[in-house]
Amino acid sequence: MKILGIESSCDECAAAVVEDGKRILSNVVATQIPFHAVYEGVVPEIASRMHTEWIYRVVQEALQKAGLHPAGIDGVAATAHPGLLGSLLVGLSFAKAFAWSRNLPFIAVDHLLAHLYASQLAETPENTLSEPPEYPFLGLLVSGGHSIICRVDDFDGVTVLGTTIDDAVGEAFDKVSKHYGFGYPGGAAIDTLARKGDTHAFNFPLPNLYKGEHRYDLSYSGLKTAVINQLEQFRAKKGTANQEAVKIRSEDIAASFQKTAVDILLRSLFRAVDDTRLTTIVGGGGVAANSCLRACLAGHQGLRCIFPPPELCGDNGAMIAGLGYRYLKRGDRSPLTAVASARVKAFKRRYP
Ligand code: KG4
Ligand code: ZN
Repeated sequence: MKILGIESSCDECAAAVVEDGKRILSNVVATQIPFHAVYEGVVPEIASRMHTEWIYRVVQEALQKAGLHPAGIDGVAATAHPGLLGSLLVGLSFAKAFAWSRNLPFIAVDHLLAHLYASQLAETPENTLSEPPEYPFLGLLVSGGHSIICRVDDFDGVTVLGTTIDDAVGEAFDKVSKHYGFGYPGGAAIDTLARKGDTHAFNFPLPNLYKGEHRYDLSYSGLKTAVINQLEQFRAKKGTANQEAVKIRSEDIAASFQKTAVDILLRSLFRAVDDTRLTTIVGGGGVAANSCLRACLAGHQGLRCIFPPPELCGDNGAMIAGLGYRYLKRGDRSPLTAVASARVKAFKRRYP
């Protein structure tokens, strides 16, 4: 069963064809990053306009690369939530029109569940997963808008154990990078810079979130503020320091910030491992590409940590097609009246 998956929730205009929920036949991601980089953040109006302009060619390319005519597609899946509303509407409406015109089953899927599904797509010629993760496992969903530790019982069965009480981890990477002028988007820029830095150069604070209802929760605003305040001290000294010295310390800032950001995630995650006794951890979302996070978890004895290949951590259509296949195979269908939504309540932890 070949599913066309369409993703347009933020600044990637993406389409892919995936066979039987696993094998990626094509995966086209047209990034708008250069168009938003000048503003150092995603401009929603620009994003939806560009999706409208690009979506037809992106889908066409996905079909071509898969060696398929539209008649070779058995079903269509698209992201319906969460994301930028104007952007979501473009991919969702295109997918509905495609399905309607060819009389194909259509399914609207959740972007976050799709990120968690991405690790099951590793069955590609370059990356063969020996054994796909078995349910239940712990999910570590880390992106620009979300930081969630959850119990995953099925492709559509997720219980949120902990989430950020303020900023998302990707958001902290992006904001720190913006303040220091490291580049946009910030995650990959800091990851690269940090490789040459000293993780112990700066001692940034960890949040005190381990009691009661916050046992698995996360917080990034304290870390973000501390790292940004460091810049003010840095600037005060910059007049006397030579440029080379400033550059070296930037790398140390990146490394120390990144290590603390990862430690915040791991402290809550390990509490969840201890309490649930689930030892398989599946990562997903843009921050799951982070080399420090991957290395820290890989070195942990007694845990099986599964991450999608870095190119499937960020937004893509393959994860949408893969997850869509699971629903369609079960017989689920979305009506062509399905609507987009900026947020999903199910991914917010409910406090008593
Ligand atoms: O999943 P994603 O592509 O979009 C959302 O659904 O939000 O995640 C984007 C986020 C951005 O905040 C970006 O800075 C971060 O993922 N990111 C990284 C890395 N690559 C992307 N963060 C840390 N390390 C990376 N290597
Ligand atoms: Zn995403």
